[in-house]
Amino acid sequence: MKVTSKAAAGLLGLLCSQAVEVHAHMSAAHLLVNGSDLGQFTYVLKTTPAVPPSYYSLPETSLVGHTIPQYDNEGIITTNATCGISPWHSMNTTKIADVVAGSEVGFRVLNDTEVGFSGQFAAFYHPGPASVWLSKAPNNNVKAYRGEGDWFKIAYAGPLNDTTWSNYQQRLNPYDYSTWQDTLNFTIPKRTPPGEYLMRFEYLYPNSHIGYSQWNINCALVNIMGPGGSEPPASALAKFPGTYNREDASKLT
Ligand SMILES: *[C@@H]1O[C@H](CO)[C@@H](O)[C@H](O)[C@H]1NC(C)=O
Ligand SMILES: *[C@@H]1O[C@H](CO)[C@@H](O)[C@H](O)[C@H]1NC(C)=O
Ligand SMILES: *[C@@H]1O[C@H](CO)[C@@H](O)[C@H](O)[C@H]1NC(C)=O
Ligand SMILES: *[C@@H]1O[C@H](CO)[C@@H](O)[C@H](O)[C@H]1NC(C)=O
Ligand SMILES: *[C@@H]1O[C@H](CO)[C@@H](O)[C@H](O)[C@H]1NC(C)=O
Ligand SMILES: *[C@@H]1O[C@H](CO)[C@@H](O)[C@H](O)[C@H]1NC(C)=O
Repeated sequence: MKVTSKAAAGLLGLLCSQAVEVHAHMSAAHLLVNGSDLGQFTYVLKTTPAVPPSYYSLPETSLVGHTIPQYDNEGIITTNATCGISPWHSMNTTKIADVVAGSEVGFRVLNDTEVGFSGQFAAFYHPGPASVWLSKAPNNNVKAYRGEGDWFKIAYAGPLNDTTWSNYQQRLNPYDYSTWQDTLNFTIPKRTPPGEYLMRFEYLYPNSHIGYSQWNINCALVNIMGPGGSEPPASALAKFPGTYNREDASKLT
């Protein structure tokens, strides 16, 4: 399936609401720290796929199901909005990454080999904004935390101008997926209070039909190291679920 324009991508979004069309989506399973890719679902909580790989006649080792986004009719106003679908099952097996406040880190999506298909999985497939959020674990114990507390945004890749999303402009050649952007790098604010956090990646494909916006959400476990010294203002705090509602016109294209 090839997409030649934003308009076609929009149409695809509509088609993708049917289970059989879920192919074209990504999962930000890789965390990048200190300039290295730390592997798939090593520091990122593995979410539960909505359908098993066998649905696509693929071996169980394929991560195809993990590329499925959630549509807002599948729970953007539920706890699915926190860290994706059933992420806590993998809490015990997910590692906590030491990150230095002020350093650059990143989220990268699963690649073709990991998914078991070539092409459109391995990039930010649809146009839209990306953001990254932190929520500090109570008692400095992220393993026991489920993200019910406050979140604050530390990175936002929004519109570059009236026609282009900043994290989508590297989709230089629509027929060559290798030119599409697959990584969002950002800086952990220097004065972030030290401690263990859930770090939440969100990629939203807005859509003008209620129930059709697509949400790719993944959370990493991080231990932020540094002197601290700053707190987000109360006005900047958010909850997931709680921050979005389905009637929000700002989600529309
Ligand atoms: C993100 O950072 C990694 C190093 O951690 C680098 O290899 C990659 O090119 C960067 N990607 C973008 C889109 O800046
Ligand atoms: C999360 O999404 C999955 C897949 O669509 C759905 O089966 C589940 O009911 C949702 N969970 C909640 C809490 O809404
Ligand atoms: C995770 O570890 C905790 C503490 O060891 C244990 O109580 C819990 O059952 C484990 N959960 C899973 C899903 O393995
Ligand atoms: C990143 O670098 C810092 C400082 O050198 C180090 O303490 C930390 O363990 C590194 N993190 C990872 C995940 O390698
Ligand atoms: C894709 O991921 C696999 C497994 O993590 C890795 O071995 C391979 O080098 C990656 N391919 C590319 C093109 O990055
Ligand atoms: C927005 O930026 C893109 C990428 O630089 C460029 O191709 C496009 O012409 C710009 N659009 C406007 C309206 O400036």
